[in-house]
Amino acid sequence: MNKLHYPDLQVCVLAAGKGKRMHSNLPKVLHRVLGRAMIDYVLHSAEALCPKAIAVVTGHASEKVREHVGQPINLEWVIQDKQLGTGHAVSQCEEVIRDVRDVLIVCGDTPLLSWQTLANLVDEHRRLDADVTVLTAQPANPFGYGRIVRDADGRVRTIVEEKDASDDERAIGEVSSGIYCVRHAVLFDLLRSIGNSNAQGEYYLPDIVPLALAAGQRVDAVLMSDPDEMMGVNDRVNLAMVEDLMQRRIIRDWQLRGVTIEKPDTVRIEAGVSIGIDTVIQAGCYLIGRTHIGDECRVGPNSVLVDAWLDDRVNVFAFSHIHGASVGSDASIGPYARLRPEARLDEQVHIGNFVEVKKAVVGRGSKINHLSYIGDASVGVDCNIGAGTITCNYDGANKFKTEIGDRVFVGSDTQLIAPVRVADDATIGAGSTITRDVEPGGLTLSERTQQRYVANWKRPEKESR
Ligand code: UD1
Ligand code: MG
Repeated sequence: MNKLHYPDLQVCVLAAGKGKRMHSNLPKVLHRVLGRAMIDYVLHSAEALCPKAIAVVTGHASEKVREHVGQPINLEWVIQDKQLGTGHAVSQCEEVIRDVRDVLIVCGDTPLLSWQTLANLVDEHRRLDADVTVLTAQPANPFGYGRIVRDADGRVRTIVEEKDASDDERAIGEVSSGIYCVRHAVLFDLLRSIGNSNAQGEYYLPDIVPLALAAGQRVDAVLMSDPDEMMGVNDRVNLAMVEDLMQRRIIRDWQLRGVTIEKPDTVRIEAGVSIGIDTVIQAGCYLIGRTHIGDECRVGPNSVLVDAWLDDRVNVFAFSHIHGASVGSDASIGPYARLRPEARLDEQVHIGNFVEVKKAVVGRGSKINHLSYIGDASVGVDCNIGAGTITCNYDGANKFKTEIGDRVFVGSDTQLIAPVRVADDATIGAGSTITRDVEPGGLTLSERTQQRYVANWKRPEKESR
């Protein structure tokens, strides 16, 4: 863990914009990057600095943003009723910012921004004893960003937005990340002086730069080493690019922590996933939500795990789908298995191909190897559930439970009509329809139809024309 602590810093997160370019009903900062809302990443980086407080400016669909974030103890909500620009957004925070040396302003739409980069900006700002410090970058494509205009001596003079820039200014490769560290004592006076006579008719935060210079204050720029970090998401093309970069970061992180990932470009691993050492993730896997995978597991090609929990040494064969289910250690799943919510499999359980398990507990060492449906059920330890076994749990209106004891052997193609109980050590003959509780031990089977033999029967043949 980092030991950062900035008690005389307040962070201000700008998240009021609608995100027009997203064409969405969802506020922009709630759009997800690898399963986590953009604002969560930004807040996480801000919190890592242990600032005095964090103010979040919301406006468009603010209740949705608040509901999502909740109420962390050091977070204050600020409403910007009309989205009149980034400068106007910051000015709304005047009431909630007190007794700090500096204000760190970040945008809610830059999820790749790391806390190290933010800490570096604050440290540099203080080392230089600056009044305004802007974080800048030199991305491969500066389109859409505010350009940093410097004078002949290389000092920052102003920041010009894409829409207001001349051709010469557009040719500038250094851009503003939209992130600033500003001395609290000067910030709100500067904001009061900005106007809105520009291409968008907005109160631009970057305009504090020329205003500070005019007031004789010190303005500096800190160039970030990795320009990817400041990538802002304004439309869904940006969203996909940011997600791609985040994915590489997350995959690299797991690789460095001892996870083998085959064909990493084909794999999706969301931000909330955790994976143990010596686990192998094979091509085309999707690991989604709060999935946890233990040590020494293997997740076969094209498997999808959503909020799944695997203990250690679990083998998931290709094309399996595990959603909201947990699997004990040394178990084996698939290929082509489907574990649905509330399937709880104990250690050493075997689930084979075309088996679906839902809302069912399966005890240690039990095997359900082929073509079965086990739902609303409990299966004891060391059972063998034969091919094509179905728990008939639903009568079209209500669901009923099937309870199977320990060491039970269920013959192939058995239907268990719930509610029904099968006692320990029972054996059920193949092809049975079980409608009443089954006694312990012995053999239980339903009446079978007579088998006939027709000796002189001829197979049909194709008619010749
Ligand atoms: C902004 C900067 C630009 C910078 C870029 C970096 C301005 C005028 N431009 O441009 O210099 O290169 O970010 O990504 O600052 N917001 C509000 N209230 C508003 C307007 C915006 O809270 O009235 C919030 C948005 O929700 C967003 C952030 O401020 O999180 C930035 O706004 P956005 O519209 O994305 O600005 P850009 O065009 O990206
Ligand atoms: Mg933006």
